[in-house]
Amino acid sequence: MANVMISNAVQNQDDKTLTVEWEDGDTQLYPYVWLRDNCQCRTVCWHKSGLSTQPGKAVFNLDLDLTPTSLEVIGSMESSSSYNLIDIRWSDGHQSQYESNWLRKYKFDSSPRSDGILDPKLRYWGSEVGDKQLKKYQFNDLVSSDEALLNWMTDLKELGIALIVNAPKNENEMQKIGERVNFLQPSHYGLIWKVRTRYSPDGSDHHNAAYKAGFLPLHTDLTYVQRPAGLMMLHCIESASDGGESLLSDGFKAAEELKRENPEAFKLLTTTIFESFDKGQSTDYHGRYHTVSRHSVIQLDNRGQISQVVMADHGRTPMLRAPVSTVPAIYQALKMFQNKLHDPVNLFKYKLQAGDIICLNNYRVLHGRADFKVTETTNRHLEGTYMDWDQVNLRMRVLQTEMDQKNINSHA
Ligand code: OGA
Ligand code: ZN
Ligand code: ZN
Repeated sequence: MANVMISNAVQNQDDKTLTVEWEDGDTQLYPYVWLRDNCQCRTVCWHKSGLSTQPGKAVFNLDLDLTPTSLEVIGSMESSSSYNLIDIRWSDGHQSQYESNWLRKYKFDSSPRSDGILDPKLRYWGSEVGDKQLKKYQFNDLVSSDEALLNWMTDLKELGIALIVNAPKNENEMQKIGERVNFLQPSHYGLIWKVRTRYSPDGSDHHNAAYKAGFLPLHTDLTYVQRPAGLMMLHCIESASDGGESLLSDGFKAAEELKRENPEAFKLLTTTIFESFDKGQSTDYHGRYHTVSRHSVIQLDNRGQISQVVMADHGRTPMLRAPVSTVPAIYQALKMFQNKLHDPVNLFKYKLQAGDIICLNNYRVLHGRADFKVTETTNRHLEGTYMDWDQVNLRMRVLQTEMDQKNINSHA
C-alpha cells in the first residue's frame, strides 16, 4: 500500500471526533470512542504478538465520553522513513498511536467491504457448466499440491461446484480431502455415509429416499437440521450401469431470476417457514435419531443478498404457519422456483463415473439424480460427506497468504 502522509489532525470537541487529513486531500472523521476502543498498543490492549486482544479491551470499562488531552502528528513528507502516525493521550490516562496506513484501511465510508473469501465474486452457471466453467481436479493433485487445493476451493466459492477425478475407487477416500482442508463435518449419518443401492425386490431395504433406486428431485442436504452443512461431496465408487445421472442446478442463479421476474413469489420464499424432519429407527443403519427443523427456502444475509437455499421435498412436514389465503401463492412460488431450477437451460446433468467426486456448495447448488436400475448383478455405490465453510475459509486464507508471500519473494 502506498504510504500517504497525514497532513493534519483536528479535534472536534463538540461531536467528539477527530478529522484526519492526508497529503492527497483525503479526509475522514474518526469518533474518539472508536479510536480509543481500537487502540493498537501492544501493552494493554493487544498481546505483544499482535494476535489477540487483552482483557483490557472491554467496552464494559470504556469511558464513552473520553477525549484527547494531547495530540500530535508524528512523521512528515520530508522524513525518509514511512513512520507517520497520530499520537493521542486520552482523558482516561491511556496513550495510543494510529499509523497512517491503519487509519486509511479502516476509513468508515470506504473501508474495504470486499474480502475475496467472505464476499467472493460469484459466477452463475447453467446447463453449459460442464463444457465451460467446471474444472476437473485430479485427486492426487489435491492431496499433494496446495495450489490445486486453493484453486479447487476458489471454484467452490465462485461457482459452487467442482469435480475431482481419478480418486481411488475405495471407501473413505474423501477423508484425505477432508484432512487437506482441515476436517470433514459429521452429521447424524456419521462422517462418511453410504448411498448404496442394493437389489431389493420388495423395497424393504430402502428406508431413506436416497437408498431407493429412482429419481431424487433437486434438493439441498440436511434441510432437517438447524445448521445444514455448508458443503457436500459425493464419491462414486461404482456407478449405475443404467441411468442415475446427477442433476445439478445453481440455486442462486434461479433465485436471482425469480427475484427479477416475480418479486412477490421471491418474497414468499424468503419469508415462509417450512418444517422438515428426519427419523431413524433402532433397526436402521444409523440407529435412532429424530431431527426437526425450520427454514425459509431462500435466505438473505444482513445486506439483503441471497445467502442460502434450503429446500428438499422429501422430509418436508405439513406444518405451514401462514395465512390460509396465501397457501396457493406459496405453492405457486415454490413451483416457479423449482421450474427454474429444472429448466433445461439451468439443469446440468452429469453421470458420475467410478473415481469421480462431485463437490458442491450445499447453500447454493441443488442436487438430485435421475432414475436408474439396479439388478441382481449391478450395483450403485456412492459415499457422501460434508464440510463446513468456516474450515474451507480458514484454509483458503492461509494458502492465499502463503501464495501471496511466495509471489512477493519471487518478484523481489
Ligand atoms: C443424497 C443424494 C444423490 C445420488 O443421498 O442426498 O442426493 O446420486 N444422493 O444418489
Ligand atoms: Zn492501548
Ligand atoms: Zn442429497
